[in-house]
Amino acid sequence: MDDLFSQIETARATIAARCTITPRVGLILGSGLSGLADELADATVIPYADIPGFPRSTVHGHRGELAIGHLSGQPVMVLRGRFHFYEGYTMQQVTFPVRVMKALGCDTLLVTNAAGGLRPDWSVGDLMQINDQIFFPGMAGHHPLVGPNDDRLGLRFPAMVDAFDTDLAALAHTVAAEQGTTLRKGCYFMLTGPTFESAGELRFCRTFADAVGMSTAPEVVVARHGGMRVLGISLITNVALPDGPPANHIEVLEAGEAAKPKFAALLKGILARM
Ligand code: HPA
Repeated sequence: MDDLFSQIETARATIAARCTITPRVGLILGSGLSGLADELADATVIPYADIPGFPRSTVHGHRGELAIGHLSGQPVMVLRGRFHFYEGYTMQQVTFPVRVMKALGCDTLLVTNAAGGLRPDWSVGDLMQINDQIFFPGMAGHHPLVGPNDDRLGLRFPAMVDAFDTDLAALAHTVAAEQGTTLRKGCYFMLTGPTFESAGELRFCRTFADAVGMSTAPEVVVARHGGMRVLGISLITNVALPDGPPANHIEVLEAGEAAKPKFAALLKGILARM
């Protein structure tokens, strides 16, 4: 099998042959948010199945295709549906699309997700700018950068204390304030899933973080490995408290649906000013 670098190049060439736009910003849209991709101008839509090396999405609510076009005047590449480690993909597969975004020309990653809020005073529908992350599977060895390092892709030992770009974060807060949208900030705790957390796991997570979810951290790591700037925003789809009601996937999707206009307006406002 080809090495990672050649696989990225094959995917890049396949996509580039089908569209004339060079994307600058890569967008990963989480549960329920993929509709934003329908708003692209000059869109080229490519099913993941057509791209060598791309896995296929298996979760209900996640579409398996990418779109390249303009959003708020910005050339973007949008992933409608991401890959999760809990689906059985390797961390290298989960992060492959980010490598391809970078190879196509994206210098910025705008990543979104649905997350459980760990703060009792936060509400369903709140947005949170991710200013830090705990990549729990990565800490336990499920890490996309394990293995030989290809120096053409990034450093052997990339730093993560500055993973989230402070200028982009400031822009996000400015745009949110102008739109009258509450934008919280906090640390995202990624665990593998697919189980929602036990009460003990929630007590553990809330000691260290503000929101919990099953995605994003590996993509952020690989984006930083590739030198991309990263902005992350979580939609709080449920309040995940040890003594609260159990979380379920339906409420996650419903909250995503309800917050879509607000979330979409924020993302578009940020893109317009980047
Ligand atoms: N836990 C983990 N992942 C999630 C949650 C949650 O409560 N809500 C949305 N994604």
